[in-house]
Amino acid sequence: MSLSRRILDILIVSLFWGSLCSDICFGVESDIYCLRRIKASLEDPFGYLNSSWNFNNNTEGFICRFTGIECWHPDESKVLNIHLRDMGLKGPFPMGIENCTSLTGLDLSSNKLYGTIPSNISDVVHFVTSLDLSSNNFSGTIPANLSNCSYLNDLLLDHNRLSGQIPPELGLLARIKKFSVSNNLLIGPVPNFGNKDIKADSYANNPGLCGGPLEPCQSPAKNSHTMIIVSAAVGGVTVSALGVGVGLFFIFRRVSVRKKEDPEGNKWAKSLKGTKGIKAS
Ligand SMILES: *[C@@H]1O[C@H](CO)[C@@H](O)[C@H](O)[C@H]1NC(C)=O
Ligand SMILES: *[C@@H]1O[C@H](CO)[C@@H](O)[C@H](O)[C@H]1NC(C)=O
Ligand SMILES: *[C@@H]1O[C@H](CO)[C@@H](O)[C@H](O)[C@H]1NC(C)=O
Ligand SMILES: *[C@@H]1O[C@H](CO)[C@@H](O)[C@H](O)[C@H]1NC(C)=O
Ligand SMILES: *[C@@H]1O[C@H](CO)[C@@H](O)[C@H](O)[C@H]1NC(C)=O
Ligand SMILES: *[C@@H]1O[C@H](CO)[C@@H](O)[C@H](O)[C@H]1NC(C)=O
Ligand SMILES: *[C@@H]1O[C@H](CO)[C@@H](O)[C@H](O)[C@H]1NC(C)=O
Repeated sequence: MSLSRRILDILIVSLFWGSLCSDICFGVESDIYCLRRIKASLEDPFGYLNSSWNFNNNTEGFICRFTGIECWHPDESKVLNIHLRDMGLKGPFPMGIENCTSLTGLDLSSNKLYGTIPSNISDVVHFVTSLDLSSNNFSGTIPANLSNCSYLNDLLLDHNRLSGQIPPELGLLARIKKFSVSNNLLIGPVPNFGNKDIKADSYANNPGLCGGPLEPCQSPAKNSHTMIIVSAAVGGVTVSALGVGVGLFFIFRRVSVRKKEDPEGNKWAKSLKGTKGIKAS
């Protein structure tokens, strides 16, 4: 009786210490949970994550040796950057990223991610200086909530199927340096980034963007009014004039060129890395 009692006690105590250790021994449990969730939510047909993201070896800072993971300090499981570019990954935006709470850079470009960009994106990646979701299959509208990611230097959303208008609130991103929404299905006025140098390339190959470095926007009512006046004036040649106009429209639409840049917007964070090596335990 007392023997089985003792065994039970030992079991309870070791379970207690076991669970306590998993909370404090390995620094930032939340970041480990973050990567577990990301791995679980993505299809990985080429096995990049499957072969490298092994959660069974719990040495301190083990996740920092995973493919695509950069930590604040090599032996502290606190994720600084996630770079999972061009790995054939498939699935919706991996919400597990919300548990990597010290993330400053996220690159998921050139994969096969689909669905919408989360409408609470600023709660998910609040501190990112660089967000690259380009060359995926994201659809729906660009969330205005991105304007609350106030540390953003680089925001790359080009080569997706994003539609609707670009939220004007994005113009509030005070640190923005690189911005691209080219090759989407966007319409309407582009954000006013003040004196920042965002070029027409950033908006190329969308069906109806205007303003900023592009052609000025015209209200649809004014536009049709002008059309009526023009038709009345040219009378019999209206049909051929319209033909030329439509032709020019399509020619100008094709002149835009795709420009792709490699984002490296969190240099300040990297330089901070060395000084942030104090362990949480
Ligand atoms: C993960 O993030 C969600 C949303 O912020 C939070 O509710 C949850 O407690 C976090 N889980 C862990 C294990 O940190
Ligand atoms: C993942 O790796 C394990 C062994 O490392 C292997 O047995 C399994 O087939 C792999 N799965 C995929 C989808 O690559
Ligand atoms: C666990 O990871 C450490 C550091 O990468 C390595 O030295 C050790 O061999 C690994 N242990 C196992 C059982 O894989
Ligand atoms: C947008 O961001 C703010 C602040 O980060 C947050 O409080 C709000 O809930 C977010 N909006 C949505 C629709 O999630
Ligand atoms: C963001 O919204 C999703 C639902 O769309 C929710 O599951 C998640 O917990 C939210 N994350 C945060 C950090 O608010
Ligand atoms: C993108 O998504 C659409 C449907 O949502 C699908 O038809 C298309 O094949 C996808 N493209 C890629 C490259 O995955
Ligand atoms: C989020 O951004 C909007 C402007 O887009 C601003 O009005 C709002 O105060 C911000 N919310 C927080 C919590 O910072």
